[in-house]
This record gives sequence, C-alpha cells and structure tokens, in this order.
Amino acid sequence: MGQVLTVTSGKGGVGKSTATANIATAIAEADKRVVAIDFDVGLRNLDMILGLENRIVYDSIDVMDGRCNINQALINDKRVKSLFFLPASQTRDKSVLDAKKVEKLIVELKKDFEYVLIDSPAGIETGFERAIYLADTALIITTPEVSAVRDADRVIGIIDAKSKKAKEGGEVVKKLIINRIKPDMVKKGQMLSPEDVLQILAIDLIGLVPDDEMVVVATNTGEVVVKNPKSESGAAYRRITKRILGEEIAFAPLEDSKGIGAFIKGLFK
Ligand SMILES: Nc1ncnc2c1ncn2[C@@H]1O[C@H](COP(=O)(O)OP(=O)(O)O)[C@@H](O)[C@H]1O
Ligand SMILES: [Mg+2]
Repeated sequence: MGQVLTVTSGKGGVGKSTATANIATAIAEADKRVVAIDFDVGLRNLDMILGLENRIVYDSIDVMDGRCNINQALINDKRVKSLFFLPASQTRDKSVLDAKKVEKLIVELKKDFEYVLIDSPAGIETGFERAIYLADTALIITTPEVSAVRDADRVIGIIDAKSKKAKEGGEVVKKLIINRIKPDMVKKGQMLSPEDVLQILAIDLIGLVPDDEMVVVATNTGEVVVKNPKSESGAAYRRITKRILGEEIAFAPLEDSKGIGAFIKGLFK
C-alpha cells in the first residue's frame, strides 16, 4: 500500500503546488511510482507547473463520478516515466469533492502507487479537509511571514483534529518546509529566521527552500527546478525528497552556499 503525502499550508501562494510538482518529480526520478493529484478544484495550476496542461482530457471528478476510469484520467509524464498526474476539475462548484468518493479514489491509487502526493487548496474549507483527511504525512509549507506561519499553525491543529488518523486515535506525521527564505533579510533581522518559525510551529523540519528566481522561469517553461542542477531551490527539493524517502541528510551543506548555513548550524548543534 502506498503512502499519502498532503502538501498544505492554509495560506495561498506560499508554494504548495511548486513543492508538490518538485517533490513528485524527484520521487519519480528515484524510480518510485508516484502520482501527484491536484485538489485545487476550480483553480488548478499544478498541471502548468508540471508542464502537462495540454494533455488533460479527464479529471479526478470525472473518475469519481464514473465518466471514465482512473487510467483514462491519469497522465503519465513522458520525461519521467514513473510520474503520473491526476488533474483537478475546472468546475466552480467546490462541493463536488464528495468524502466517500474521494476516499475510494485515494484507496484505489494507494494500491497502484508507492507515493500519492496531494496538492491541497488554500484555506480550511471542504477541499482542504478532503486533502488532509487520508494523509499519512502532511508536508506543511510556510514562508517566513507571520501571516503564513499563523495559518500553518491553524492547519496543524485542524489536521490533528479532523484527519482520519486522528479520528482513529493516531496521528498524521507532520513535517515543515520553510519556503522563499532570503538569507540577507534574515541576517538583517528583517525576516523571521527558520529558528523563529520552528519555535512557533513546533513540528519537525524537513527542508528550507531559498527564494529563487529560477522557480518562476521553471513554471513558465513547464519544467520543474528540481531537474535544474544549478538551481538552489531545486537542490533543496532534492534533499527534501531524500528525507521523505528515508535518507538521513544533514541540514547544513545546502544552505551554506547561500549563507543560511550559519544559523542552521546554530539550530542543530
Ligand atoms: N522558492 C521560491 N522562490 C521564488 N518563487 C517561488 C518559490 N516557491 C514558489 N514561488 C512562486 O510563488 C508563487 C506561488 O507558488 P505556488 O506553488 O503556486 O503556491 P500555492 O500552491 O501555495 O498557491 C508562484 O508564482 C511561484 O512561482
Ligand atoms: Mg496551488
């Protein structure tokens, strides 16, 4: 049975879809069968970030409502063979995500894939609740801004209250990604440091991603940064993926080149 990882944040625009696309690609490059599912009904953009928008015929709602089978809707990335993508519907009616149908779909996908990555919508409404309900692991993503951190904190509380694991007396594993870090601003005390964020959220850190112009270029060209050996954020996502796959990767070296190393070493000594 595959593992379900949900990328979520509360706040919009902090990098959920970018993280989902990069982590899914890196997992697939490690030869694991992975499916990335866009749960952002009505506002889909994971397809663009993955560069697969022109190949969409059916979406997850078509599968759930029986208009097609899963294999008809799944899009296989021709560049990375074990990467599959299930698009969100463009409908404006967000109530289409029926709890039972979502569960049936995810259970089916878990049989066929080692990793099921769910890109959660912003907010804490139905789409979000469906996205976190079946998670084994929640990858909580935030930027170093007070509003984003506060929303992440809220989301952590909801996961602990409303996930299936919580209802059964267990707990969803929660890991933190801090995105768009600007080391210069942190040094000058103009931006929350990773240490500050971790103190507030009190969950395990799985990665620090620098602010990186190459993310924007990548999104516009339909190629993810994780494939770009020169991209700092790509390197960060490769390291996050290794940690997801169970490797022990020290936190310091990646961030050194950008100067984040200093305070990270402080953090882990
Ligand atoms: N590390 C980063 N550096 C620079 N820009 C980023 C980074 N991560 C995400 N972005 C940009 O931030 C915006 C929001 O990202 P996105 O992944 O769509 O967020 P969400 O899915 O949380 O709404 C996009 O324009 C994306 O290119
Ligand atoms: Mg998104």
